[in-house]
Amino acid sequence: MPSRLTPRSAQRSSPSAAPGISASAPISDFSTRLVAWQRKHGRHDLPWQNTRDPYRIWLSEIMLQQTQVSTVIPYYARFLARFPDVAALAAAPVDDVMALWAGLGYYTRARNLHRCAQTVVGQHGGAFPASVDELAELPGIGRSTAAAIASFAFGARATILDGNVKRVLARVFGVEGFPGEKKIENAMWTLAGSLLPQNASDDEVSAYTQGLMDLGATLCGRGKPDCLRCPFAADCVANVTGRQRELPTARPKKAVPTRRTWMLVLRDGNAVMLEKRPPSGIWGGLWSLPEAADEASLAARAREFGGDGAVSPLAPLTHVFTHFKLDIEPRLAERDRGVGALAALGDADTAWVALSDLDSFGVPAPVRKLLDGLQGSLI
Ligand code: ADE
Repeated sequence: MPSRLTPRSAQRSSPSAAPGISASAPISDFSTRLVAWQRKHGRHDLPWQNTRDPYRIWLSEIMLQQTQVSTVIPYYARFLARFPDVAALAAAPVDDVMALWAGLGYYTRARNLHRCAQTVVGQHGGAFPASVDELAELPGIGRSTAAAIASFAFGARATILDGNVKRVLARVFGVEGFPGEKKIENAMWTLAGSLLPQNASDDEVSAYTQGLMDLGATLCGRGKPDCLRCPFAADCVANVTGRQRELPTARPKKAVPTRRTWMLVLRDGNAVMLEKRPPSGIWGGLWSLPEAADEASLAARAREFGGDGAVSPLAPLTHVFTHFKLDIEPRLAERDRGVGALAALGDADTAWVALSDLDSFGVPAPVRKLLDGLQGSLI
């Protein structure tokens, strides 16, 4: 008698999803159960459902990349009202498309949307191609989005694998490893492909694809999965072993390297010297404090700018970026010449800026905090 803690799927002896990947065997009636669940409990009245119009389906799938359904709905309606078909979208100035997209974020999507419409009109006679491979060649359409469009618009038996689907598969089949890692992702594509319904009608294919999305978005969410209502509760590795929080495996935490920089707070009365950063790199184009790689070089810079040569330490601070930590060693230097008329924003790379006028300059947050502290200390 198998242990009650062993999921039914894990008790089978068939091979896992891909060599080298730990996952339980696929469930033989996965697609049948998912389609039945979708028909009874899935979503059926979203604005992009109940149509086979590839334009409408494509538009929705692009908008739904990285964006929630509730956010997309009003944008989708406005887009369709302004651009009712792919020809109207292709003929519009890109600025009109960008303006309608404003607020949805990830603006590359909007530029690609416009390019894609122009490609469909210019190279496909205004009709979206039906195959996954041809769809995936169009601007802004990746492999999973191509499969979703092919499945919803053309009834193609095509594999989708977006973030929601990865979560469902990782949990149900106990796929170990971060799904963003190529090896794990490839294994998931293989697993997802093996689960597709066989000999399915167009409607069953659509219900299956929508079912994967619905399960991931409704019951099998990231935070608190509603396993009691899940059609795979008895088989799901995560549910049966209580590992919903550990699956899917989180992105491995990388040790972030630390860099150190010395920053010059050169003060003359109520003003400080700011320097415009190069256009690319961290804080590209913002106004920050002059920097050097060590204390002696910083003192030399202070003298260049007319400081009296003495620098005194201010409290160090650390700023954490995505890829590294920056330890900042601020040094205060004084100049007593008066700065006359303060520099306005312009092409110059340095400017004397009154501490009360920092709002007019784009100053990085930690530097601003440092300078605000300094302003508080002025008598
Ligand atoms: N996310 C991506 N595609 C979707 C769809 N067709 N319906 C709901 N959410 C989605």
